[in-house]
Amino acid sequence: MIKILCIGAGYVGGPTMAMIAKKNLNAHVTVVDINPARIAAWNSDQLPIYEPGLDEVVQEARGRNLFFSTDIDKGIAEADIIFVSVNTPTKMFGHGAGYAADLQYWEKCARRILDVSTSDKIVVEKSTLPVRTAAAMERILESGKGGVHFTVLSNPEFLAEGSAIKDLDHPDRILIGGHPTPSGQKAVQTLVDVYAAWVPKENIITTNLWSSELSKLTANAFLAQRVSSINSISALCEATEADVGEVAYAIGKDSRIGSKFLKASVGFGGSCFKKDILNLVYLCETYGLTEVAEYWRQVVKMNEYQERRFVERMLKEMFNTIAGKRIALFGFAFKADTGDTRESPAILVARQLIAENALVVITDPQALEHAKTELADVIDRVILEPDPYKAAEGAHAIALLTEWKEYKELNYQKIYDGMVQPAFLFDGRNHLDHQALYTIGFNVYSIGKSPLKHI
Ligand code: UDX
Ligand code: UDX
Repeated sequence: MIKILCIGAGYVGGPTMAMIAKKNLNAHVTVVDINPARIAAWNSDQLPIYEPGLDEVVQEARGRNLFFSTDIDKGIAEADIIFVSVNTPTKMFGHGAGYAADLQYWEKCARRILDVSTSDKIVVEKSTLPVRTAAAMERILESGKGGVHFTVLSNPEFLAEGSAIKDLDHPDRILIGGHPTPSGQKAVQTLVDVYAAWVPKENIITTNLWSSELSKLTANAFLAQRVSSINSISALCEATEADVGEVAYAIGKDSRIGSKFLKASVGFGGSCFKKDILNLVYLCETYGLTEVAEYWRQVVKMNEYQERRFVERMLKEMFNTIAGKRIALFGFAFKADTGDTRESPAILVARQLIAENALVVITDPQALEHAKTELADVIDRVILEPDPYKAAEGAHAIALLTEWKEYKELNYQKIYDGMVQPAFLFDGRNHLDHQALYTIGFNVYSIGKSPLKHI
């Protein structure tokens, strides 16, 4: 039986290991974390993250060949393969502050692995890391006692939150990077076998370590770039009466462009896009590639512009004053089907509205707890309300920020009747039926489309 350990029971580590355990009955999979509350939640009926389909997978495997524990040292000592899936946020201090990746947790893990190991290990980078991080990890691991041999692999995760279980079950590809040496290739094969339990061989790509590390950053940069590209065009649409939905549809029909990631929005969020692009920018600068760095930095700038622009438009349309006005934010998660709020555009929108002295009421089916943490310093100035009808009661405006399915199904006549008139609706996801809302009486503003207004 192969023993697999994952350090970091987060959005990536938890679901990925649950799927590996489900599909590999001959593997004993343990997930450890320094956060005891997180581990306790993984061992309970109330998992720490919301992800459609996750409960079933965990329930099937947990206690059979999937275990969650806080005993990191024991896990390391026993494991053959160690995935490292701890967070690598943007560094907020010192050199590279604001854009380099903060590798401190990651290095601590490497040192812990070195201290505790008494048998050979394959160490797998699951976290998204700057290119050539594996070289640093190898140097740390090789700095210790002789006898124990470590082989470092890169195996970036491409799952998206909200569809993690589907993405893990039917991945477009699995990417495994390793050294071309015999021990490197043997380790690659061991990991290929784990995934081959359910992923067709032709979808498992093997590359050198550096290509694998860089592919993850590049994939996210390209996806984010598409959203920023269409969002830049949304601003032009609003100025010209073109419709960004029609433009996206028309260009997406070109098979060379394709239809995905062309939905204009209030901006992209999530734990990865911004962090990974900034990381790429930092790498480019480190290698003296100033123009390349600037090129990618612009993708993030465009996103910030889009978020700011949304609030500026609200302010302008609501007679240049929102002080004292109740404004209901429909959705706070960075996208639908997740409770995750990291880098959610809703954070900046809420903060700007608060800065204008608006009375902000936030509703979201999954993310209110996280919203409370994100806005901790201004929490006395917001109301968290699970019921969207109550959130909108007495409001001047609704701003839809997350494309939850349930928001399509609300009774907007009822909502409209309870609002202050003229009632405004700003759809930051182009998610609702704007014509129907306009007919009810709303003044409707969406992204990259002409407004539908009665006033
Ligand atoms: C991870 C990677 O960190 C990120 O680089 C990648 O792009 C996506 O996957 P995610 O799973 O979303 O991110 O992070 P998070 O949910 O924050 O989980 C990380 C976990 O690691 C946390 O539960 C944290 O407590 C744990 N951790 C952190 C450790 O167990 N040990 C540490 O030293 C640091
Ligand atoms: C992303 C990558 O998709 C995934 O492969 C990687 O492993 C982690 O980062 P995730 O952050 O979960 O996944 O979300 P994703 O679905 O990619 O969406 C990112 C952001 O872009 C969201 O805020 C989303 O609402 C926004 N988006 C996406 C748009 O605004 N328009 C689109 O057309 C698509």
